[in-house]
Amino acid sequence: KGDPRLQAISQAIRVVPHFPKHGIMFQDITTLLLDHKAFKHTVDIFVDRYRDQHISVVAGIEARGFMFGPSIALAIGAKFVPLRKPRKLPGEVISEKYALEYGTDCLELHVGAVQPGERAIVIDDLVATGGTLSAGVKLLERVGADVVECACVIGVPNVKGQRRLIGKPVYVLVEPR
Ligand code: PRP
Repeated sequence: KGDPRLQAISQAIRVVPHFPKHGIMFQDITTLLLDHKAFKHTVDIFVDRYRDQHISVVAGIEARGFMFGPSIALAIGAKFVPLRKPRKLPGEVISEKYALEYGTDCLELHVGAVQPGERAIVIDDLVATGGTLSAGVKLLERVGADVVECACVIGVPNVKGQRRLIGKPVYVLVEPR
């Protein structure tokens, strides 16, 4: 954690108070994507961690998991698998509901995208309660994948279970600013 790249990554994330609603300190990773060095550091750290681990699936969670996952997948020689919100994927899907602060949402996975026994990581921009990542993990496990770890750029501390949701380690780079 003494990696100086982490400070550059943290500083490249813009905090937008009261977005999308009052009281939320929104962690905006679009400014990280604008900063070539910080963006490259982010991808490099994940690539260094997951290369040589025989991972064949990088599953990214809509929408911001899509902004990091493909670069990591290409660099480690894995496929990229999108985990999408309902009614976005055109093929046959399996679905997993998860709880939000108010109500529920759902993620979907294309049947046939991942084979039993494949080693996978799940990536997103941010973990708070871990509900979203847990749904992603469940989808992959339902098709027989071996989920090695979840990975996020930003991890909210002190949220119960956050760093080890449903038995999976969660690797995070920085805390919210
Ligand atoms: C945000 C974030 C994660 C999720 C984390 O997505 O990008 O996917 O919340 O929260 P959790 O750990 O409490 O589940 P959001 O729900 O805003 O959806 P979006 O990416 O489609 O905007």
